[in-house]
Formats: sequence, structure tokens, C-alpha cells
Amino acid sequence: MSRAVSMSTDPAAEAGPATGTDTGADAEAGPDATGSDTTGRGRVAVIVPAAGKGERLGPGAPKALRELGGFPLLVHAVRTLVTARSVDLVVVAAPPSAEGVAEVQRLLADLPGDTRVVAGGDTRQESVALALATLPEDCDVVLVHDAARALTPVDVVEAVVAAVRDGAGAVIPVLPVADTIKAVDADLVTATVDRSTLRAVQTPQGFTRDILTKAHAAADPTLPATDDAGLVEALGLPVRTVPGHAEAFKITTPFDLVLAEAVLRRRR
Ligand code: C5P
Repeated sequence: MSRAVSMSTDPAAEAGPATGTDTGADAEAGPDATGSDTTGRGRVAVIVPAAGKGERLGPGAPKALRELGGFPLLVHAVRTLVTARSVDLVVVAAPPSAEGVAEVQRLLADLPGDTRVVAGGDTRQESVALALATLPEDCDVVLVHDAARALTPVDVVEAVVAAVRDGAGAVIPVLPVADTIKAVDADLVTATVDRSTLRAVQTPQGFTRDILTKAHAAADPTLPATDDAGLVEALGLPVRTVPGHAEAFKITTPFDLVLAEAVLRRRR
């Protein structure tokens, strides 16, 4: 990433049309038999939804702005993204207030690469959709990465981009599930799910721009999905998995913060 830092809260100032899926780069690339688009000519953008309140971490700043080792989670996450060789552009959805946007702009100002800030929405799904609508036309691969997965190794980012470039329309990093998982009704168990068929899902999740745009256009805003791949599944399109990483865990609770501090100390 060598471009100068570009910060904008005005999509019209720097971005293409809100629904610009039929880009110059994509114009001849129709979906193949697996429902994916061919890619390889456009740029790679990463959307980072960071507009959540993160109440499970306890009272205080929005989760993405909580500090880990002296820096907000968001800064850790974006720093990794801008160092990924395959990533060209990072768009962060900030808490949807003037102060929220200004604060995120300030935090990202010293990072290298092309980083932009937009105001997020009421739900994660809405925050992603708002950021997606601002992407420049020449981005044909879009990743979505939770700021709360602040310690995700760069290799996971590269593996997701590579799988999309390889022809997958939607890609998610996953890990096997260590615990036995049961379905319950109140305090009674109703079923034990076969663990061998389960995977814990992480981010970044990667998509051709066309598929992610279609998935969000078809999504029901009153039933927000917890991840973007779920919206693609709802369209009946395939989602491919790649290996995730233990350090890509979502920092959600105070215990997760303790764990994250330990991971960071070991890295330093
Ligand atoms: O609440 P949850 O952990 O599922 O949030 C996942 C990510 O979505 C977080 O990074 C959070 O900041 C983001 N989010 C958002 N806009 C919202 C709610 C959550 O960008 N309205």
C-alpha cells in the first residue's frame, strides 16, 4: 500500500455510484457455474464495521475504540489490513455521529495506505451496506472484517483474497469447534448437534463485489444477519471455507481482552 492517506466522510467526493456493481473492470466477467464472478483486474477493498456499542465489554467507549496494548482495537485491525499486500483500500464504518466519525478519522490518520471513514448504521448489516455503497468502481473484491477481531494474522487476510481471486464468490475463514454444542429450549436440552460438521466462523469474509452487493440488496433489514456470508447463503449461492486462526478471535468480553493482551505480549 503506497497511496497517501485519504479520509472522507462524503462518499460523493471520492467514491463511485452507490450501486456501481457493473464496473469497467467487471463488465465482461459474468458469473460462472458456481455462481462466482471472475476477478483479477480490479482492486481489493476491506469494509470494517466498527459502529457497534460493544456493551458486552462493559460500559465505556464503543468496542472498536477500546484500547488493547495502548491502541484501540480498530487501529490494530486496520494496521494489519493496510499491511496486507493484496489490500488496496480500507473503509471503516464509524459510530454514526459527527463525533464518532471524527474520532475514527483521527485514529486512522497516522496509518499508511488508503483508509476512509463513513458513518455506520443501526445494525452491523446496515453499517456494511453503507460502506459498500461508497466503494470506488474499480474495486471488484470486497472483504468485510470486524474491528473486534483485532489480532487477525495477515495470512488469513491473504488466504481469503486468494480464494476469491481463485474463483470463489464468497469465502469465510473457519475453525473446528472444540466444545460439544447442544440446542436448548430454556434450560432443557433438545438436541446435540454433530460437532464434526460444525465450524466457528471468523472474518475477514471475502466476496466478489457483485455477489456481496446482490446479497445486501436482497437482505431483510428487519432480520439483520450476524455475518455477510449468511446473506449470500440466503441467495442460494455457495460459500467456500478456508482455515481460520485462533488469534482471529472476536474480542467481545473482558476475558477476551485479557487473552488479547497476552497474545500481544507474546508477539512483542
Ligand atoms: O455486536 P457484534 O460483535 O456482532 O458486532 C460485530 C461488529 O459489527 C463490530 O465490529 C461492531 O462494531 C460492528 N457493528 C457496526 N454497526 C452496528 C453494530 C455493530 O458496525 N450498528
